[in-house]
Amino acid sequence: MNKKLIKTVKKSFKTHFKAKPLLVFSPGRINLIGEHTDYNDGFAFPAAINKGIALAISKSNSNTSNVYAFNKEELYEFKIENLKPLEGGGWRNYVLGVVAELQKIGKQVGNFNSLFAGNIPGGAGMSSSAALENSFVFGLNELFDLGLTKNEMILVSQKAEHNFAGVKCGIMDQYASMFGVKKSALLLDCRTVESQPYKINFKDYKLMLINSNVKHDLSESAYNDRREVCEKVSKLLNVAALRDASKEDLNRIKTDITDEDYQKALYVINENNRVKQFSEAIKKDNIDALGNLLYQSHEGLSTKFKVSCKELDFLVDSAKKNPNILGARMMGGGFGGCAIILLKKDEFKTFKKDTAKKFKKRFEKDCSVYSVKLSQGTLLVK
Ligand code: GLA
Repeated sequence: MNKKLIKTVKKSFKTHFKAKPLLVFSPGRINLIGEHTDYNDGFAFPAAINKGIALAISKSNSNTSNVYAFNKEELYEFKIENLKPLEGGGWRNYVLGVVAELQKIGKQVGNFNSLFAGNIPGGAGMSSSAALENSFVFGLNELFDLGLTKNEMILVSQKAEHNFAGVKCGIMDQYASMFGVKKSALLLDCRTVESQPYKINFKDYKLMLINSNVKHDLSESAYNDRREVCEKVSKLLNVAALRDASKEDLNRIKTDITDEDYQKALYVINENNRVKQFSEAIKKDNIDALGNLLYQSHEGLSTKFKVSCKELDFLVDSAKKNPNILGARMMGGGFGGCAIILLKKDEFKTFKKDTAKKFKKRFEKDCSVYSVKLSQGTLLVK
């Protein structure tokens, strides 16, 4: 949770709407390993972080609702009936999506005033959108006594993303943001939508993120394309999802599919296995085994699943040359955003400076370096 952010929204809400709001904090997430496995009913290993969205919200007697985006200084007023996604609507579509998806499952949402602010860097692959969706679904559930469980709420958030933002995402982001556990990562089974928290202690190493500050315009359609390929291959394999397939199964249909589709499906099958190996290594406190799995994951994402980009490949390649780094890979949907790195604790400052310099020299633009804490999921702030 971020106290400063909460204080900001509380104060600003009072100025704008002259009322006492309900306050919600909803975090972003990282993912240790298990990328593009969630919509394949597979496993992922995400964690909520100490950066997120703070939302202030209260009922309104007017016949419209208001949302104020603090960081952008944009106010949006809308009627809550017959909601449709807006062309180029940006953040508005996440809010509209949540309200519309609540209505679709028969929940009565009244008018409200709201204001949110966030400190998750946009486009970094740290799920600012899931944090925003979750903050609204959680806030509205509380405000209008909708009686939803957290599991039901994340399905509303996910549907908002599918139908109002147009990204056919899996459940990892919304799950991690809603259910995060302090100092822990969640071994998430995306089929049962259940997780096991693992206390994380990387000993001499520390997690850090480097944002390439790249966001490709086509990332949404490329994401949906990847999902389609996975679904097409699992249909040919006659299984519900790639989670149910082995490499041997895939080899049986190798000649019936293109090599690109074969490589993509193979990546998913391998990545699922890596999540299990990674969690086993953590259980056994075998920190040394983690690095290699991270590098393998990146290799698959880059050369087989093809969702990396030159900036992320550069960051991971430079990491490999650095003896103070245990492992690294790109994180999230891809085509930009962050690399996640396990680095020796006392090397943080030097590494930050060196990487920034090298990155700038190579690409003539800046990267950003963050350290994050594994934190609690979406909550009502008392
Ligand atoms: C995005 C999606 C998630 C997941 C990741 C890749 O963050 O929203 O559902 O598929 O990409 O692992």
